Amino acid sequence: MTAIRPLVAGNWKMHGLAANLAELKSLQDLLAMEPQPAADVMICPPATLLAQARYFLSKSDILLGAQDCHPDSQGPHTGDISAEMLADAGAKAVIVGHSERRTDYGETDAVVSQKAGAAHRAGLAAIICIGERGRERQDGATLDIVKRQLDGSLPPAATAANTIIAYEPVWAIGTGWTPTPEDVAAVHAFIRGRLGDELGGEGSAMRILYGGSVKPSNARELLTVPNVNGALVGGASLKATDFYAILSAYSGTGGRGR
Ligand code: PGA
Repeated sequence: MTAIRPLVAGNWKMHGLAANLAELKSLQDLLAMEPQPAADVMICPPATLLAQARYFLSKSDILLGAQDCHPDSQGPHTGDISAEMLADAGAKAVIVGHSERRTDYGETDAVVSQKAGAAHRAGLAAIICIGERGRERQDGATLDIVKRQLDGSLPPAATAANTIIAYEPVWAIGTGWTPTPEDVAAVHAFIRGRLGDELGGEGSAMRILYGGSVKPSNARELLTVPNVNGALVGGASLKATDFYAILSAYSGTGGRGR
């Protein structure tokens, strides 16, 4: 089987003003030292910075992503942004169903599936986030939650090219805590199995990212776990040097993760 090319995506969340785009320039300079990076690299800045970031990255392989989209392409939805608008501003992908949105806005799996479908409609890849809360892990319900969210959030016609799954245990996001590599391996193997059952070969080739307190000191142990095909990085993506250090977990591994 061909190895899956990893993706390391940075989610800036609600951080970043125009001045912070200098970090993109620094990241680009750091990446320029590697002629053949072993992973795809993406930054998802706030929507306000997408168009400027596209200008900054015009000569770079760094991909641009967005953090959320509305299911509709346009309409009377004050404050919302459609997937078409994000594509127009330069995004190639959009995160949907992040636990912060599920919590802050009560987004259900059905809504997340609609948003992922909207991304596909606009030609964007959907990065679909799933993951259990701390209490659910303590109760031994991790795989039940992951199964329910995965089944409910995957839109029809999901393919390995247009969909990426991000497993993010909610209790690990922004806390400094992480699951053990064995725990990550168990959940990712489960997700891989489900994707294969649902989508056949497309599911076997789909990228499954790990997210939750990934930092330079733990990146290698987490990102070389079987079936981990990259990372979704929050806090540590805000500084180019930290994000680059995470990416170097793939240097010399030839894109492992299968
Ligand atoms: P974190 O966030 O790396 O700051 O834990 C990850 C995420 O929410 O995507």
